[in-house]
Amino acid sequence: MNYEEIMLRAISEAGKYKYTAKPNPVVGAILVKDKEIISEGYHIRYGKNHAEINALINANKHKNKKFNDFSELTLICTLEPCSHIGKTGSCAHAIVKSGIKKVIIGSIDPNPKVSGKGIQILKENNVHVDVGIHQDLVAKQNKFFFYRHINNKPYITVKIASSLDGKSHYENHERVFITCEEARSDVQLLRAEYDAILTGTNTLLNDNPRMNARVNFAVNQPEKILMSTSFSLGANKSEMPFFEGERVTHFQHNDIDCVIPIMLENDKCSILVEAGPKLANSFLKTGYVDELIIYKSQNELGENGVSWFIQDNAVENYGFKLESSCKIGSDLKEIYKKNGKE
Ligand SMILES: NC(=O)c1ccc[n+]([C@@H]2O[C@H](COP(=O)([O-])OP(=O)(O)OC[C@H]3O[C@@H](n4cnc5c(N)ncnc54)[C@H](OP(=O)(O)O)[C@@H]3O)[C@@H](O)[C@H]2O)c1
Repeated sequence: MNYEEIMLRAISEAGKYKYTAKPNPVVGAILVKDKEIISEGYHIRYGKNHAEINALINANKHKNKKFNDFSELTLICTLEPCSHIGKTGSCAHAIVKSGIKKVIIGSIDPNPKVSGKGIQILKENNVHVDVGIHQDLVAKQNKFFFYRHINNKPYITVKIASSLDGKSHYENHERVFITCEEARSDVQLLRAEYDAILTGTNTLLNDNPRMNARVNFAVNQPEKILMSTSFSLGANKSEMPFFEGERVTHFQHNDIDCVIPIMLENDKCSILVEAGPKLANSFLKTGYVDELIIYKSQNELGENGVSWFIQDNAVENYGFKLESSCKIGSDLKEIYKKNGKE
């Protein structure tokens, strides 16, 4: 049996659920007997069954037809089966209980609650375990999840739209689209990838944004985070689209150092900061930001525009290096990483 091929299939199929499984990792599990795939299972939606459980449920439909006993089957799963009784029960215990005797794992789970403990449960119960097939691909497809557990902080991206002359908006707050339609559609896709979108008072009040991911596929929508001391909870929220639909958390202080650990505690692996120059620069100053995305238009706002950055070379001074750039419609999308890190 070519386990590599099966693992690649599990990774590729699991990837289909990256927008609905988040902030959980995408996981695929395939049960095989000899050269035949008996069943497949995927973690389709956050809070729902894990992949291994779905593979077991689906295999049960073929019991006494394609196989007689689970001990005849090998489980190939992209990520280490969980050991903790989270929302859905421990997968490692479910595998042991099923009678499966061989498990092939792509990558160890970086979550300290699981890391190695799922494998230990399997081994202690006489299940043969092999680990490490295409672990780099598993880590890559779960970039934010691995980052969060390895670095003990969410992956933070600041996204800005800039005019050609480096401006964010007009001083008098006259509403104007800085970037082209294609760039704005790209932002919707970007939002869909993140677990939370964070903004500040002035963007909320001046732009009255909805700040969700408006895409034509299913998404576990990002939670919306407002950092604002002056916005009152009694304000006319019913007329503000920001407070519609998705969950909103309002931090009534300006302390970024306090916000990050709370977001981590709330299972957020990634945060997209979409604010004006004040809050965006505050974030950049903290050193917590991993990525800066600039959508740069061909048009200038001129002397009535407010600059994103006060000093020259601010992006470089914050420690960012240009990693890639591409044309989107008439605009340029530039991706900067901290010290050029992957
Ligand atoms: N071009 C773009 O990509 C883009 C994106 C977003 C917004 N904008 C434009 O930006 C304009 C607003 O920009 P802005 O710079 O004035 O405001 P902002 O960054 O949207 O909000 C700043 C406010 O957020 C609150 N805040 C909470 N924590 C903070 C912290 N650590 N550091 C700084 N502020 C913190 C403060 O309000 P409290 O005093 O209430 O605490 C502060 O006055 C809007 O008119 C919008 O059109 C442009």
